[in-house]
This record gives sequence, structure tokens and C-alpha cells, in this order.
Amino acid sequence: MKNKEKKFKKLKDLEEKGIELSSVWNFGNREKGYGSHIFHGNCIPQVVKQCILKYSEEGDIILDSMSGSGTTLDVAKSLNRKCLAFDINPHRDDIRKADSAELPLVNNRVSMIFVHLPYWNMVKYSNEKEDLSRKTLEKFYIKLHSVFLELRRVLKKEGRICVLVGDKILNGKNIPLCFETYNILSKYFEYKDYAIKITKHANSIHNKGKVVQAELTWNNLLRPTHDMLLIFQKI
Ligand SMILES: C[S@@+](CC[C@H](N)C(=O)[O-])C[C@H]1O[C@@H](n2cnc3c(N)ncnc32)[C@H](O)[C@@H]1O
Repeated sequence: MKNKEKKFKKLKDLEEKGIELSSVWNFGNREKGYGSHIFHGNCIPQVVKQCILKYSEEGDIILDSMSGSGTTLDVAKSLNRKCLAFDINPHRDDIRKADSAELPLVNNRVSMIFVHLPYWNMVKYSNEKEDLSRKTLEKFYIKLHSVFLELRRVLKKEGRICVLVGDKILNGKNIPLCFETYNILSKYFEYKDYAIKITKHANSIHNKGKVVQAELTWNNLLRPTHDMLLIFQKI
């Protein structure tokens, strides 16, 4: 097959699988049957599905070392991938307890990683000392270095790591968690791509939303209505 034909075939395959080909992802409602919709800070299964379909093959081993309610685990299984799931505070029997900076895995064990970082300073997930959600901003960033170094160790060469992260507004300032995470990831992996995942429809401002919006407007800030999906590769 000629090069051009191969490219068109790949495009057709991806389109048939329903893979997003542009960088703004707006999935609407959460698909049911994966993880838990009541887990605070869960992620929409459609994001995980896109990453797994695009960056792994059937039979591959996927890792989520911050599994929360197990969305990645359930999506991976539904797509005939194996999944190794860990969390510092596991909520299910099929999620093992481990700090993402010290995983009980041999080197180069997994084909792809999906992690959804805890929303800094929003939800306290546990009383564990190494829980990222309990750390000061400075210690949060320091810990991310150890986490990404460890994730690099267990990822196979050329494997992708997809990191979902959102910014935070605190005391009238935007804390650029996405950009800082990008900077730290760049030290351990090669940058490939990113997508913006829409988190809320702009017209969903209810009463509490109005108070939040007034506060943001007062500080000349935009209301964050997206997360960023950062895509890197181990080289
Ligand atoms: C945003 S939640 C993940 C939600 C998940 N994607 C879902 O859909 O349910 C982040 C998770 O990271 C975990 N966590 C925080 N610090 C950790 C660490 N050092 N190692 C492993 N897990 C950690 C928290 O316990 C929490 O479950």
C-alpha cells in the first residue's frame, strides 16, 4: 500500500472507532457503567476511552496509579486491555494501595499510563502523608517530580502517558497547575500533544455560580471551564 493510502486507511480506522481528531473535547454527560459518578473528582470515562483507543492495543497493560473510583480500570477492561490500578486510598478491592511515587512494579512493565491528578486544595482524599491532595502547593510540585520519575521507570519505551489536570483559582489568583505540570512532565518525558476537555457548559451558571462568577469578574479572571489532557511519551 502506498504511503498516502496508508494515511487515509488510518484516518478511516480512527473515525470508525469514534476517536476524537481535534483538540477540544466536549463529551456532554458522563457515560454510565465506569467508575462512580458520585466519587468527588471522578473523570468522565469518555476521556479515558479516547486515550486508551488511541495510544494502546488490545491486550496491552494500562496503568492508573491514582485510580479513585476506578474509571480507568473499568474502561480498560471494556476495551480488552489489562489494567493495573493503584491508589494511596483505594476504594475498591481491585485497586491496590500504593503511593504513585513507589509502585510495586518492575521496570518497563506497562504500555500506557493514564492519571488524573487530584485537584489541589479542593478535595482532601485521605489522611495519608503522601497524598498529593494534602500537600502545600510547593510540596505538591516537589511530589509530582517523584511521581513522574516513578511512572517513567515503569512505562515501556515509546509508551504514552496521559495526564488530566485542571487549574485552580485561589484568593483571587489563577494557580496555573496545568502549565506547572507540563513543565515537570517535560523533565521526564517528551511532549507530544494536548487536548482541552470542556468541564461545564458556559450557560450552567446557577445561584452559587453567580457568586463565583462575580468574584472572578471582580478580579478580572476568567472562570475555568476546562481541564487539560497532557500527552507525553517515554523516549
Ligand atoms: C482526581 S482523583 C482520580 C479520579 C479517577 N480518575 C476517577 O475517575 O475516579 C485522584 C486520586 O489520586 C489519589 N492520590 C492522591 N495522592 C496519591 C499518591 N501519592 N499516590 C497514589 N494516589 C494518590 C487520591 O486518593 C484520588 O483517589
